[in-house]
Amino acid sequence: MRLRLTALAWLALFVPTLALAQGASQADEALALQQRAEEETVLAEGEGRSEVFGYCTACHNTALIRRSRFTRPQWDGLMDWMTERHGMNPLEGEFRDTIVDYLARHYGPAQAPARGRNPFLN
Ligand code: HEC
Repeated sequence: MRLRLTALAWLALFVPTLALAQGASQADEALALQQRAEEETVLAEGEGRSEVFGYCTACHNTALIRRSRFTRPQWDGLMDWMTERHGMNPLEGEFRDTIVDYLARHYGPAQAPARGRNPFLN
């Protein structure tokens, strides 16, 4: 009888504590994942990647870029839209070409559709 009580007490006390601790560590992990800073390598490798990463992540992370599939003229137009509507510093000259070329080459309509990719990697 005494043994059973002890076992019950153990279950009543220890099991919920364990569950709580586990829940907390999962929450910590989720938070850490969310807050993990993006690295340049989340973008497709190629000339212009570091320019895009450096310039374009001042206001938002790269998810908006990675899920997009635009033609070169569309990307080019988007640069103006970002400047006119969202206050991005205007992109001009060779620097603009480097960025727009990169985007059109790696995030153009010919690339695999964003929704066909693993959502957990987006
Ligand atoms: C000054 C801030 C700023 C900078 C710098 C910036 N953006 Fe944006 N961008 C925005 C805002 C604000 C939005 C709208 C976000 C929303 O709708 O949630 C946006 C939206 C977008 C979208 C989504 C457009 C759509 O209609 O789906 C893309 C793609 C994008 N940005 C790409 C870029 C690229 C590429 C660069 C670098 C050349 C860049 N952004 C730099 C502010 C900025």
